Amino acid sequence: MLPVSLQTSFPKGMLMTQRVRITINGKLFESDVEPRLLLTDFIRGVAGLTGTHVGCETSICGACTILANGLAVKSCTMFAVQADGSDLVTIEGMAKDGQLHPLQQSFWEEHGLQCGYCTTGMIMCAHQLLARNATPTEAEIRDGLTGNLCRCTGYQNIVKAVQSASGKMRQTQNVAAGD
Ligand code: FES
Ligand code: FES
Repeated sequence: MLPVSLQTSFPKGMLMTQRVRITINGKLFESDVEPRLLLTDFIRGVAGLTGTHVGCETSICGACTILANGLAVKSCTMFAVQADGSDLVTIEGMAKDGQLHPLQQSFWEEHGLQCGYCTTGMIMCAHQLLARNATPTEAEIRDGLTGNLCRCTGYQNIVKAVQSASGKMRQTQNVAAGD
């Protein structure tokens, strides 16, 4: 796929586009996009939110995971037009009032990352996991994160980080960003 900058440089009328309105982290983004534009490219190229990473574009790695209407989705598996009218949360929307979300804080404290490429997707997926099960076992955490791959294989500390965040979130009742 062409980068967004190239797609939008064609003369008007040569490309079929569709108007989409997508709210990301509480801010409305409106743009005319080609129907083939992936949601990841809308988030990164149109909204300029590059915390959502692209690892495979084939729905395998989970690096592109975001929350769409509260559900963790791999944004490379959706077209932007499919997200028209949706409310998205990306990693940039997790911190509030200058305070890291408990998941972000725990990944920091437990060294739940090495290169960090998978981290944003891991955090967004873990967010859904903890929203559904506030006290997951280690096995449930590992199972919940099976759709997210870490090339650095730092799974041990990723699991510890999610366990730590689970404890923090129960203490503070701060269940979720965007909630
Ligand atoms: S980039 Fe979306 S799953 Fe890998
Ligand atoms: S920390 Fe490097 S890919 Fe996970």
